[in-house]
Amino acid sequence: MIKQIRADQLLPGMYIHDLNCGWLDHPFFSNAFAVRDQATVEKIVKLGIKTLYIDTIKGADVWAAPTQHDVNADLERRMLEIAQKQAEKPVVVELREEVARARRLHGEANKIVRNMLEDIRLGQQIQIERLEPLVENMVDSIFRHQDALLPLAHLKTHDDYTFEHSVSVCALMVAFARGMKLPRETVKELALGALLHDVGKACVPDEILNKPGKLNDDEFERIKSHVDEGVHLLRTMPGLGEVSMQVISQHHERFDGTGYPHAMSGKQISLHGQMAAIVDVYDAISSERVYHRGMSPTQALKKLLEWSSHHFDPQLVQSFIRAIGIYPAGTLVRLESKRMGVVTEQNEGNLLEPVVRVFYHAGQSHYVPPEIVDLSKVQDRIASFESFEKWKIDPYQWLPS
Ligand SMILES: [Fe+2]
Repeated sequence: MIKQIRADQLLPGMYIHDLNCGWLDHPFFSNAFAVRDQATVEKIVKLGIKTLYIDTIKGADVWAAPTQHDVNADLERRMLEIAQKQAEKPVVVELREEVARARRLHGEANKIVRNMLEDIRLGQQIQIERLEPLVENMVDSIFRHQDALLPLAHLKTHDDYTFEHSVSVCALMVAFARGMKLPRETVKELALGALLHDVGKACVPDEILNKPGKLNDDEFERIKSHVDEGVHLLRTMPGLGEVSMQVISQHHERFDGTGYPHAMSGKQISLHGQMAAIVDVYDAISSERVYHRGMSPTQALKKLLEWSSHHFDPQLVQSFIRAIGIYPAGTLVRLESKRMGVVTEQNEGNLLEPVVRVFYHAGQSHYVPPEIVDLSKVQDRIASFESFEKWKIDPYQWLPS
């Protein structure tokens, strides 16, 4: 049986089923392994892991610990509660009107950020003024209709993780800030900070950044150094305000003080730094990377909620979920009618009944003529979220175009 335990309950003789820290570039080769000695237990506690999953068939048990099933049921219940308190985000233009613009913008954003990271590797200065129009355009697009740009940001190709991740974090951050009704000037600063949050990675060798296997302690420290490297590169940059710097310098800090580089905790971390941490982790765990498969957006949101008992402010995680939806645009879902499709847009006021582009029948295992189904207007409901991988469905093909 799979059970969730606290890290302080871990003992040699147990079998770890999941380290429960998908956001961390941790030094273990795998997330699942037998714990053979006390040194391993100490290493796990030192990493800041607070809860993890054990397999009680393969190793020792903690009888009073909740099962994975119990934990999941509790998370489902909390997600439903969040859905009932949705923030208002009026749609300014129709989705189809924004889609083509968002596609162009996404391509352009990736190009600009990739060039910027290459320039830094070559030792050239960052030109902030070249990013400003991009930031403006991204903020405008998200404010017109966020479901046009957000699903594009979710899709990544393996090799280009760092710059694609920066663009995604930017789009998600704007949607988050919009949901929180932050002033427009702050939203722009947050967006600029998000685009630049990982620039320090240009100073970390590629072999370490993309290493698929186990990281040694030195390599792990080298990856962590990207925060200070980024701050160092940008500190004296004119045009970069306090809010942007907070995003860059605090995006790996954690609410319980287990983050880096300064192990800040609670309200010591600025609101903007805390928002950056949530968005960064969400994008990291929901993206396909060299060494792990991405989670579905809904699964990633459930993980954030689970971790919010330690690593993040729970209220802020709830605000993030309300801002992007329980089933964010781009999520593959299966309906109770066994039809499947991709969520194309949220319905104002009802996060559990988005608009879905249906194109497959799971019961009959074949494609059906594509159809737009607004779940707020029909009897059908979402039964589950699904993985594109499992159904061998190409996500790009089914997004609105
Ligand atoms: Fe980072």
